[in-house]
Amino acid sequence: SRRLRAIDLARSKAEGRKIIALTAYHAHTASILDAYCDFILVGDSLGMVMHGMESTLPVTLEMMILQAQAVMRGTSRALVVVDMPFGSYEASREQAFLSAARVLKETGAGAIKMEGGARFADTVAFLTQRGVPVMGHIGLTPQSVNTMGGFRVQGRGAEAERQLMEDARAISEAGAFAIVLEGIVEPVARAIARSPDVTAPTIGIGATAECDGQILVLEDMLGLSDRAPKFVKSFGSLRSQIEDSVRAYAEEVRAGTFPATEHTYQAR
Ligand code: KIV
Ligand code: NA
Repeated sequence: SRRLRAIDLARSKAEGRKIIALTAYHAHTASILDAYCDFILVGDSLGMVMHGMESTLPVTLEMMILQAQAVMRGTSRALVVVDMPFGSYEASREQAFLSAARVLKETGAGAIKMEGGARFADTVAFLTQRGVPVMGHIGLTPQSVNTMGGFRVQGRGAEAERQLMEDARAISEAGAFAIVLEGIVEPVARAIARSPDVTAPTIGIGATAECDGQILVLEDMLGLSDRAPKFVKSFGSLRSQIEDSVRAYAEEVRAGTFPATEHTYQAR
């Protein structure tokens, strides 16, 4: 069975099948997701989740490429989408293309994602016309934390609502194969998801159930992250499970009951 491609998401939308997506940064976790997800996002959230950074801004293209290679090795079916990190695409459409080309060439991933609305439509079209499938990302865009003044829900007020609808329409028209709607008040996200002017499939995170698909950060939905936004539902409790295992290990080492005979090598 071949790997899913960016254009396959349009068929899911046309046929009314929800698009399933999660993030992954590692071969092991990605291999578990592969059978269940239409696409796996190697998100720049890896800066905060894997490295404990306070924002995604310090993440480099090299970090993204390294983890995307890991995720590609762990998967064979899902489309792998790689986030363009802050500073790798905003200066010009040429810079964006060169960064995106490096990602596709060095990882084998099938698409990239970049943050930004109408003012990036030109870049989306430039890349798409040159063989790079682009996923958009609008609403709460974490790379803009310094200009947004914190991680805040977007779309409150008539002007914000109008701008978000215009962002979605422009990115869709420019050829984005899907658009992530993040941290947007539900009625506005719903209006975007329903809009006939937004033909690209919408992928929600803190948005609305009416999106064509949903995505969450894996470590957040597994209950591994130490804190997660309100829009995350805990589908697991890995943090306490890991802690239980580590505590049991420590107790057995202290008591001398681990390793037992079966965990040691005997002379022949
Ligand atoms: O970096 C990331 O994980 C993301 C998703 C939350 C959409 O961009
Ligand atoms: Na991201």
